[in-house]
Amino acid sequence: MQTEGEHMIKKQSKHEEAPKVSFARDIRPLFRDVDISHMEAHGITLDDYAFMSDPDNANKVLGTLSPREDEPPVMPPGGPYWTPDQLALFAQWQNEGYQP
Ligand code: HEM
Repeated sequence: MQTEGEHMIKKQSKHEEAPKVSFARDIRPLFRDVDISHMEAHGITLDDYAFMSDPDNANKVLGTLSPREDEPPVMPPGGPYWTPDQLALFAQWQNEGYQP
């Protein structure tokens, strides 16, 4: 019998000891120096919390890092591409309200 995945739902609110995803601790270290320096020239400051915590900017950044149907991610050009876990962590950071 199919379970529709309802058993996968996590009761996160009952685990208050789990810290929320933090930009400084968890997200900022995912960017390499070369990512930051190249993108800064395009006005995309991957290491700047103020820039990254703007949902428009964060969504664009995540879009470039994410695989598309038949093609690899746009960024970083040629890879190494972010893993599914890294992409999920970024999305979790967004969903948890862009904690610094
Ligand atoms: C809104 C988000 C982004 C936009 C619009 C964007 C756009 C661009 C553009 C136009 C270039 C120049 C391409 C070229 O001349 O070959 C570039 C280069 C680059 N981008 Fe991005 N990018 C974004 C996000 C990112 C992210 C999230 C990363 C890494 C985590 C990244 C890493 C790089 C690197 C390393 C280069 C230089 C590649 C090279 O010169 O070999 N970019 N990006």
